Amino acid sequence: MSASVITVETQEDLSHKLIIQRPSHGLSLQGSIRIPGDKSISHRALMLGALAQGETQIQGLLLGEDPRSTASCFQAMGAEISELNTELVRVKGIGLGNLQEPFDVLNAGNSGTTLRLMLGILASHPGRFFTVTGDGSLRSRPMSRVVKPLQQMGAQIWGRKGNSLAPLAIQGQALKPTHYYSPIASAQVKSCILLAGLMTEGQTTVTEPALSRDHSERMLRAFGAELSIEPETNSVTITGPAQLHGQSVIVPGDISSAAFWLVAGAIVPDSELVIENVGVNPSRTGILEALALMGADIQLENQREVAGEPVADLRVRSSRLQSCTIAGDIIPRLIDEIPILAVAAVFAEGTTIIRDAAELRVKESDRITVMTQQLNKMGAKVTELSDGMEITGGTPLVGTDVDSHTDHRIAMSLAIAALVATGITTIHRAEAAAISYPNFTTTLQQVCS
Ligand code: S3P
Repeated sequence: MSASVITVETQEDLSHKLIIQRPSHGLSLQGSIRIPGDKSISHRALMLGALAQGETQIQGLLLGEDPRSTASCFQAMGAEISELNTELVRVKGIGLGNLQEPFDVLNAGNSGTTLRLMLGILASHPGRFFTVTGDGSLRSRPMSRVVKPLQQMGAQIWGRKGNSLAPLAIQGQALKPTHYYSPIASAQVKSCILLAGLMTEGQTTVTEPALSRDHSERMLRAFGAELSIEPETNSVTITGPAQLHGQSVIVPGDISSAAFWLVAGAIVPDSELVIENVGVNPSRTGILEALALMGADIQLENQREVAGEPVADLRVRSSRLQSCTIAGDIIPRLIDEIPILAVAAVFAEGTTIIRDAAELRVKESDRITVMTQQLNKMGAKVTELSDGMEITGGTPLVGTDVDSHTDHRIAMSLAIAALVATGITTIHRAEAAAISYPNFTTTLQQVCS
């Protein structure tokens, strides 16, 4: 086995071209990988730490651009946050209700989680005025899904297109409790409302059509909030006003980042990879179930619980994959992994169908259109559906020029596809990976060497 050639070229506009050339006589991936901290848990640890009384210590925080956006927004409102590193980040909380009115616009960058969760916090802080914005992608993503339930609680929020697009202006208010029946299974919507409920006197309830990730519920309880959960109806109730107390948080590795190596290990022949310290919260493990359905050889080892979240090491060995259908309630449990799952489907025998995933159209890019176009450029057979994709596996991929559309998960999914394409693949705007996975290229080089 000889190494594939993986290089990065920085362009004049500072974007990166990631160039991947698979060696003509094949490649196998071997080794142990430590992935970066979970993005969802990192955001929540920073936010709850900022709102709590006393100090919060966070180990294993994701140092990607998205959590940096969260940290800078809360620093601008008075929280003291030490330099971000994976060893230990200290957050000196200012206590619920004590956020300072920022002098400037709060910028959530590319991060939907920062903006949507923060809106619940800002809208329920009486007497302060806030303005929030984000990058071009975030400014075109729908905010009405959180603005509407907040308005139902009495929030005052203004923005473009009927208050549905950032930039948004928020006049903080004492809110009234509500029971919100969300039309979509979205942890961002659920968390926004629960965070608004923290400061709101009485019981605030969210019911969603299917279970979405429950990191907010777990962490709110750990910080001292009173929460009741009804799993049969997918409902969560928070009783406010709450008091939060600083905690010690250990952030597990992000299963959404592990997913790239799970698929790489499965589709690159003669590979065996161990991905260490991966968060395997059941509300996130849809990817493991989908890959198991496809015949992937993945074992969970050393299963344990760390700071209220289940964790395991994942061993993947390459195997022949078969097509499957992925739809219904599993979708929210693997929503961020669908781009890389589409890559797995390209190497599976038969036609894989992904449905009920229209949410992909309002992620960092329209992930249905972008994945369909980019994989087809490489020779795949992907048909776009209104709410998913139909992928017929078995056609060999050929390296060519593809584009991330500045979407981190698209950039990394295409890099994994490139490992099994003949010739040279050039991924334009690959720097997007740093949103959730700052060392992705280094790890890619490591497992390919
Ligand atoms: C997230 C929830 C999901 C996910 C996003 C992170 C969170 O979004 O896609 O990457 O941390 O709450 P939705 O709530 O829009 O499904």
